[in-house]
Amino acid sequence: MIPMIAFEKVSKIYNENSFALKDINFKIESGEFISIVGQSGAGKSTLLKLIFAEEKPTEGNVFIKGSDISKIKSRKLPILRRHIGVVFQDFKLLDRKTVFENVAFAMEVSGKSDVEIQEDVPQVLEIVGLADKVDSYINELSGGEKQRVSIARALVHRPDIIIADEPTGNLDIVNTWDIIQLLMKINQYGTTVVLATHNREIVNLINKRVVTIDRGKISRDQLDKGKYLI
Ligand SMILES: Nc1ncnc2c1ncn2[C@@H]1O[C@H](COP(=O)(O)OP(=O)(O)OP(=O)(O)O)[C@@H](O)[C@H]1O
Ligand SMILES: [Mg+2]
Repeated sequence: MIPMIAFEKVSKIYNENSFALKDINFKIESGEFISIVGQSGAGKSTLLKLIFAEEKPTEGNVFIKGSDISKIKSRKLPILRRHIGVVFQDFKLLDRKTVFENVAFAMEVSGKSDVEIQEDVPQVLEIVGLADKVDSYINELSGGEKQRVSIARALVHRPDIIIADEPTGNLDIVNTWDIIQLLMKINQYGTTVVLATHNREIVNLINKRVVTIDRGKISRDQLDKGKYLI
């Protein structure tokens, strides 16, 4: 089977003072839920950015479903990004628009028809538990609800992969656990989830694969029932 994601001898040097990743080799199979942990500055966000081609490797190759994206042309990025939904700590939502409009916007920019938008947006809002907030403005929502909107937006293209970089960094413990349970539900539907987090308790509760990054290198890869060991 072709892995969902593969890193082969990947290094990322931002500049001579900043060697972010060194010789990273690993694979993520379809359907995995993987947590990436490590100290601040270890290279977690860089590793995620290489998966959705926000950054390109300085050396080595990154493969998504067997295709090499390490030198991907910018005109091909929209195709790649349809396979990958991304969720950030700071939500990156359009505050002056409604919940519906925020999710619809992601579909409009990829050329989806009004009919598809009217059909699909309520569906993803239902999945994330926000059906009753479709017409609320973003600034009327709690932090947990905002993160649900950004997960809904990440889901509209029915991606193979969800990348979540510290998605609970701005949330309290109750909302944190809600969001993690939502990511686990999405994973159970078959989507591969890659989560970067500092949250020890959450990683231990998830109890799945844990990759530890230490100063740009993989220092530990616990394939199952992984724990936060730093
Ligand atoms: N755009 C950039 N230009 C130069 N250096 C960068 C850039 N982005 C990250 N770095 C450097 O690369 C290294 C890894 O950064 P990265 O953001 O991947 O760490 P991280 O593990 O996500 O940290 P945190 O837990 O604080 O989010 C750090 O030394 C950082 O300063
Ligand atoms: Mg980071």
